[in-house]
Amino acid sequence: MKLENIIESQQFTREILNSLFLDAESIRSNPEEYSDRLKGKILATLFYEPSTRTRLSFESAMMRLGGNVISTENAREFSSAIKGESIEDSIRVIADYADCIVMRHYEEGSATKASKFSNKPIINAGDGKGQHPTQALLDAYTINREIGGLDGLNIALVGDLASGRTVRSLCYLLGKFQNNFITFISPENLRIGEDIKRYLEKHRVRFTEMDYLEPVIPTSDIVYMTRIQKERISIEDYEMARGKFNIGERELGMMQSNSRLLHPLPHTDEIKLSPETEQRDARVAYFRQSENGLYSRMALLLNMLSNK
Ligand code: CP
Repeated sequence: MKLENIIESQQFTREILNSLFLDAESIRSNPEEYSDRLKGKILATLFYEPSTRTRLSFESAMMRLGGNVISTENAREFSSAIKGESIEDSIRVIADYADCIVMRHYEEGSATKASKFSNKPIINAGDGKGQHPTQALLDAYTINREIGGLDGLNIALVGDLASGRTVRSLCYLLGKFQNNFITFISPENLRIGEDIKRYLEKHRVRFTEMDYLEPVIPTSDIVYMTRIQKERISIEDYEMARGKFNIGERELGMMQSNSRLLHPLPHTDEIKLSPETEQRDARVAYFRQSENGLYSRMALLLNMLSNK
């Protein structure tokens, strides 16, 4: 099934996910076979907020598939947005130059808005506190690769759950799977939203909220850490929340040998592991997770843009 706009993670069905996972594996093991599949296609990356992984992995993915990339990094300042051009007009114009637009914007709902003015597919690379669906795709791909499936897991989601769009998108995706149990662990002022709780209830995903991380670590298959999103909250909220939940060598030692520590990255001081531990301990999976972003985004672009 060919995907069109990617706006929210609920769009990924289990069937689509499985197909993308298989394609990602095939690309990983046989990259030469895919090296000209998107020859002649152009991807536009339009980022109004900073990014390392999402923008560069999409650009690398497109190039590794034989396509080309046009890009405006820091579009807030270095595109005609600074002259007052509306997002609608920018999108109309860029859609004439490219076959697909990957957009990150600071306003929730911006990707939906863009999709209404584009005759080319839009991929939401993060819209404010809204969603980051391709992060959920790569998170799910990582869990599937590392643990062997996405059903029947104990998953601890930790950190800034109020403004972190990666956690929101992952929750929406987990609603597609069976018998998972989510423990939300966050500072009191940055709790998970009621909309996510309602969604999980509707999709029969069991969850609880806790104020402590340590007791949850030994029973979790996945500990998914997130950073406090300083740029999205007040100084008071940041000061109240910072440093509450950390993973250092001691906490990592409490994890089961086959459980995994994930993080969408970038991390700040919520991860206190040495580079040696990050390299040596198989439970630390966040750099493999970011690498998986490349292959899962290659699979996604192939699905959306290939003529075959
Ligand atoms: N995980 C993630 O979205 O990283 P970037 O902000 O670097 O793209």
